[in-house]
Amino acid sequence: MRVVSGIQPTGNLHLGNYLGAIRNWVRMQDELPKDSDCLFFLADLHAISMPHEPAELRRATLEMAAALVACGIDPQRSILFNQAQVPAHAELQWLLNGTARMGWLNRMTQFKDKSGKNREGASAALFTYPVLQAADVLIYQATHVPVGEDQKQHLELARDIATKFNHDFASADTAIFTLPEPISPPDAARIMSLRDGSAKMSKSDPSDMSRINLTDDADTMAQKVRKARTDPEPLPSELDGLEGRAEALNLVAIYAALDGSTPEAVLAEYGGQGFGAFKPALAEKMVEVLGPIRGRFVELKDDREMLDAILARGALLARELAAPTLDAAYEALGLVRGRP
Ligand code: TYM
Repeated sequence: MRVVSGIQPTGNLHLGNYLGAIRNWVRMQDELPKDSDCLFFLADLHAISMPHEPAELRRATLEMAAALVACGIDPQRSILFNQAQVPAHAELQWLLNGTARMGWLNRMTQFKDKSGKNREGASAALFTYPVLQAADVLIYQATHVPVGEDQKQHLELARDIATKFNHDFASADTAIFTLPEPISPPDAARIMSLRDGSAKMSKSDPSDMSRINLTDDADTMAQKVRKARTDPEPLPSELDGLEGRAEALNLVAIYAALDGSTPEAVLAEYGGQGFGAFKPALAEKMVEVLGPIRGRFVELKDDREMLDAILARGALLARELAAPTLDAAYEALGLVRGRP
């Protein structure tokens, strides 16, 4: 098995990232057989698709590396790096741009969400972003890609690009790319905003009260949970009773994910109780799980030398793993390259 996934180093790592993706990265790293590889990267090349401040991107890239290590990514067991140090990602993106279809990219909901009403003013990088994401996983022959629900459409596209490329440029017995499988946790694939149960928890939400950041201290977490939007009804004892109650369902799902149980089990315990009782219990659970991560993050985040060394080592290993697939893709396309 080869596990590959990425996160953009913009803003803080939040509870949605953690429960939807990063916790699965750590589990896969810890539980897979020894001959599997796990590659996790900071998608800094993706981050330039939106307006950004260069010094801030540099700082945020190192900080996100520290956050991942604090969450349990072990740079000795996993290959942890940033895209910009592995040029094969950008090179393969260009090669795949010949295969990706405009119609496919036009259907991507993330482009529509992020460009909003300003489609004409959006960067070309924002439009071709999913092709870079396809290159990110195809370059390593990824078999499994742990992501939240919102990235599944991009993974479908990666599979379509791989299928068409294999069909157009490879023979059936020498497929160039492996089709990657997305992996999402059943109950935490889409953690919602604390202020609006119909919007996903996101780094780009202007209200910090909408998300729990891994950098929030215990008081801040408790305050955000206390102010989270809910309804006046008590919690039901069965899951059916949460229909049409998106905010309540979200809080129950978060509790279950933090506790390693299920929404059904949470309702069996808290059914009949109001949010006055449930919210403090949720805040306590959050602090119990995220507090130690925050502690490690604070210790690591300013050790620039160590973080640089981790990323440099990861990039070296990633470059080696990427080389054969990149060579094969150039070759298949008939590009005369000489020996780089
Ligand atoms: P990004 O940086 O937005 O998010 C990182 C991971 O967190 C998941 N996630 C969530 N899961 C559940 N609930 C939420 N509210 C929530 N918000 C975010 C995301 O699904 C993701 O798994 N384009 C990607 C980064 C990327 C990538 C890749 C991922 C670049 N190349 C290749 C996988 C493979 C992104 O912007 O994720």
